[in-house]
Amino acid sequence: MQIGIDKIGFFAPHLYLDMNKLAEARNIEPEKFTIGIGQEKMAVPPITQDTVTLAANAALNILDEEDKQRIDFVIFGTESGVDHSKSAGVYVHRLLGLNPDARAIEVKQACYGATAGIQMAKGHIALNPDSRVLVLGSDIARYGLETGGEATQGAGAVAMVISADPKILAIEEHHAYRTNDIMDFWRPIYSDKAFVDGKFSNEQYMAFFENIWNQYKEKSGLTLGDFEAICYHLPYTKIGLKALRTILTEADEDKQERLQTNYKASSQYNRNVGNIYTGSLYLSLLSLIEQKKDLPAGARIGLFSYGSGAVGEFFSGVLQPGFQEHLHVQQHEELFASRKEISVAEYEEIFQNTLPADGSDIELNTQDDPAAICLSGVKDHMRQYTNRAD
Ligand code: HMG
Repeated sequence: MQIGIDKIGFFAPHLYLDMNKLAEARNIEPEKFTIGIGQEKMAVPPITQDTVTLAANAALNILDEEDKQRIDFVIFGTESGVDHSKSAGVYVHRLLGLNPDARAIEVKQACYGATAGIQMAKGHIALNPDSRVLVLGSDIARYGLETGGEATQGAGAVAMVISADPKILAIEEHHAYRTNDIMDFWRPIYSDKAFVDGKFSNEQYMAFFENIWNQYKEKSGLTLGDFEAICYHLPYTKIGLKALRTILTEADEDKQERLQTNYKASSQYNRNVGNIYTGSLYLSLLSLIEQKKDLPAGARIGLFSYGSGAVGEFFSGVLQPGFQEHLHVQQHEELFASRKEISVAEYEEIFQNTLPADGSDIELNTQDDPAAICLSGVKDHMRQYTNRAD
């Protein structure tokens, strides 16, 4: 039995900041952001979007009634969750009207959470072939105004249905993974912004990739020539390109060219959204399969997941016949086309406009937020959500 991604959807908030304008405001050459880091636009979440609403909006448009009945496990990967106890998966389960006879949990290991979710989902489907699992990767990346990490912020979510006989990508059996207790990036419970050692985090990303790629080749017997594309966790798009370049010469010249062309397609969405932490690798996969129109069924795609702290994994999947018919390309094109640019001053104001830290009640104006599912306030320490699609 094959197990893998049956459906995949994505959501980003409707506001974005142009990286050229951020560079100008910070007195930095724009090319550092657009070429050196490889980012064009950064998604900016209004106060009416949190990790729950981003994920619920991502899942909303891909699920049909049959999915809602058959999903019996919701796995929510996030490192910017809204509660230390209750899982974000439970909120999403209710907002989407899923079958109550289901499990719903939250998984955390920095940007690795959704990958852990996929592995768990695989095991669940192997034991329960008729069920479907909803895996969510949703985050808001916050480093702070005028910090070294500012240009690598972002917000968004990816939703995937994992099932038997998947229509999009069948996940293959070989996996290579690694854990090492390091402090390259972390966020203590008292802080709403990440702490990071930028240079060290880049070095560790590369070191994990080198180690895990070699381990994977040994375990699987495959070589770079067996891959049509490799998708990376993309905190910013230049880093994946750098990782790819470290192994490119393992393939012949034709393949090298294809891998680089496909890398470009796989980083297009990320370049225009920014880091969405745990959903980032799957946004890159989505970008590849939606933007590279001539990918053949049967093509093997490699996936490199990295979550600071750190856990990394490399695995692969094979595109299924007719996979293009099950994508939501137009919906995603509309999402990008309808976004609104904001100025640096507006971004700074939105960044600082956070929920009351003392837990007092607040009512939020959701009128300016076109998303179907929004956070409408906090009452008696309980987040209030509205769903216009209901
Ligand atoms: P920085 O110090 O601002 O940038 O930090 P830099 O000085 O290293 O420059 C970046 C690149 O721009 C360099 O290229 C420069 O040469 C180039 P490189 O040497 O790397 O190839 N550059 C220019 N290029 C063209 N024209 C110019 C120009 N000027 C300079 N005029 C850094 C950058 C990414 C470190 C910072 O933004 C940061 O700390 N970001 C957050 C951490 C991060 O994203 N780390 C990535 C790996 S860790 C990870 O992926 C996990 C994570 O997602 C979290 C999780 O798991 O939850 C972050």
